[in-house]
Amino acid sequence: MANNLCVRFVKAAVGAIDASHFAVTTEAIPSAEMGDIVVQNAFVSLDPYQRRQMMPNVAYANPLNLGDVMVGRAIGQVVESKHADFKVGDWALGHFGWQRYTKIKVSGAEKINLDGFSASTYLGALGSPGVTAWVGLHAIAKAVPTDTVVISAATGAVGSVAAALARSIGCRVVGIAGGPAKCQHAVEKLGYSVCVDYRDPNFKQLLAQATPQGIDVDFENVGGAIFDC
Ligand SMILES: NC(=O)c1ccc[n+]([C@@H]2O[C@H](COP(=O)([O-])OP(=O)(O)OC[C@H]3O[C@@H](n4cnc5c(N)ncnc54)[C@H](OP(=O)(O)O)[C@@H]3O)[C@@H](O)[C@H]2O)c1
Repeated sequence: MANNLCVRFVKAAVGAIDASHFAVTTEAIPSAEMGDIVVQNAFVSLDPYQRRQMMPNVAYANPLNLGDVMVGRAIGQVVESKHADFKVGDWALGHFGWQRYTKIKVSGAEKINLDGFSASTYLGALGSPGVTAWVGLHAIAKAVPTDTVVISAATGAVGSVAAALARSIGCRVVGIAGGPAKCQHAVEKLGYSVCVDYRDPNFKQLLAQATPQGIDVDFENVGGAIFDC
């Protein structure tokens, strides 16, 4: 018989995160009550914000308590419904956490018509990272085709979509990523004109060489030393 596989948060994050911060538990699959659905999760998103919810004494939305199921956006299919808005088999998106099955009020779930895209796309390019990239590039930076756009964390969830959007309107797109392999991936697969390795001791000089006309838009995903230079 199927069980619910859950990943629970068991140790506050100080320094690097490893397996000791989590416990994998096998639990009963929850049952829906009136107004609930139960979703069988297909994909879960791992995002930078989750670390803040694992840190002690950090004021951030809904901090985790020890023993909680790890937070995270997920998409899956409804396996039980006690609300007229969802039927079994519908795709649902929400903060369902790191678990195989989630019971949730329908107010916490968004019904998704996959519309020919894979379900995971709704956690990526068509989800929060994609919206973040679009808002940053178009609503905030107001990029135009003649711009040179520099994007840090170039191969990440937000950076890779920002690069595609910038390139689609004709911008020259310069990436910043960690290591030669990621820089190669950025140029060969993600459409960057050039990508600079921030771990290279000559990073500052290489960035200047990669942007001979200057930088019109700095799509800053990291901050700190990269932003300062
Ligand atoms: N994902 C979302 O839905 C979302 C929504 C709103 C805001 N944001 C924000 O957008 C930014 C990017 O998010 P993301 O989801 O795209 O992240 P991500 O895919 O997890 O990418 C993180 C990357 O950031 C780079 N990085 C981390 N620490 C670094 C350091 N000290 N110096 C240089 N590079 C460093 C690393 O790049 P390398 O591997 O190349 O070293 C790392 O792989 C974050 O600030 C996040 O808080 C994200």
